[in-house]
Amino acid sequence: MKTYQAFESADLPDNYKDNVITMKRVLREQIGDVNALFAEVSAFIEGEIASIREQEAATGSAWPVLEYEAIARGEVTADQLALIKRRGCLVVRGHFPREQVLGWDKALLDYLDENDFDETYRGPVDQFFGSLEASRPEIFPIYWSQSQMQLRQHERMATAQSFLNRLWKTQSQGQTWFDPDVNALYPDRVRRRPPGTRSKGLGPHTDSGALERWLHPAYLKVFDKIYRNDFKSYDPWDAAHRTEVDEYAYKDTVKCSAFRTFQGWTALSDMKADQGVLHTLPIPAAMAYMLLRPLLDDVPEDELCGVAPGKVLPVSEKWHPLLVKGLSAIPDVQAGDSVWWHCDVIHSVAPVEDQQGWGNVMYVPAAPMCPKNLRYARDVFKAFEQGASPYDFPREDYEVTWKDRFTVEQLNKIGRHGLGVE
Ligand SMILES: [Fe+2]
Repeated sequence: MKTYQAFESADLPDNYKDNVITMKRVLREQIGDVNALFAEVSAFIEGEIASIREQEAATGSAWPVLEYEAIARGEVTADQLALIKRRGCLVVRGHFPREQVLGWDKALLDYLDENDFDETYRGPVDQFFGSLEASRPEIFPIYWSQSQMQLRQHERMATAQSFLNRLWKTQSQGQTWFDPDVNALYPDRVRRRPPGTRSKGLGPHTDSGALERWLHPAYLKVFDKIYRNDFKSYDPWDAAHRTEVDEYAYKDTVKCSAFRTFQGWTALSDMKADQGVLHTLPIPAAMAYMLLRPLLDDVPEDELCGVAPGKVLPVSEKWHPLLVKGLSAIPDVQAGDSVWWHCDVIHSVAPVEDQQGWGNVMYVPAAPMCPKNLRYARDVFKAFEQGASPYDFPREDYEVTWKDRFTVEQLNKIGRHGLGVE
């Protein structure tokens, strides 16, 4: 857009701080009374947090919960849909039968043992979460086990992903932005946290770009309503231009080349809500607060409240105390439940001392098919054929020589579509 030309950039600018300085000048001018807009957004968030706490007091958790069967039968009510859109997150109960996921958990361990993972593991290599105060949980850089691939190409997974994608407005501005019923298969890692774990958790943040959210031309279109001082018209569920965002490339760090409507994981073990679990700020439009906060006078002109190239977008007590106040834990989950949150939703993992029980999850998001996701899916297919690490992740390539990897012949129709080979 014309107004943003003075500072927008599709790639990481050489001197990005210059772009930040210009961005602040242009946006302040366009918005007018930035303080009043920030106050309006803050008042909205305060109202939402009050509603979140009320729901927590009444039901134990602010998170909407649906039975998988209700999704599969198309029996989700209008009220339930409205609440999911309001909170931007969801627990799907009984998404997979308990015995099935416990079997997947066991098979994953066997796969690691059979291939001597413990002897060959070289330790974590990326510093993606380095800007957060807490360290990251225990993540295994494994992508191609039978368990992970069976989950990713499962019919029940595809059904839930379509439901989640359909919460978005897929057609707007005369364009169809993605196909909600076909999902790109996005390979991610596995978390296994044994009983007795002491973890500092993971500080609050959002994914899907940090600096990009202020400087990338497509994100400027996504957030245009906010920058035009029209917060009431901003719709976090409008898919327009979301699929045109390409995260900046940095050396040696994790990024996401796919557009994800929701991030998610499937629980492979029972987890109590007080055992270092996922929290979100269940307010998708809270991104407006994140975007506007650096425009206030108390932030240095070339800074964005802790944003650094190649790091996640941090949410801090220092700059965003209201947002930290609203963080809400998932309810207790059982093995076979899955957990989902909108791509703008702020999330964190709570610290835990002497964790009771296992904390095991497989990360599988919803990434509906669009040109961007098809491009990445085809790259993923090449990595999959070789057992290599997918391109968004460090090139650790543990599984290249491993036995019992999932094979191309084992792909079903969902898997083939998800990898763009059919
Ligand atoms: Fe995250």
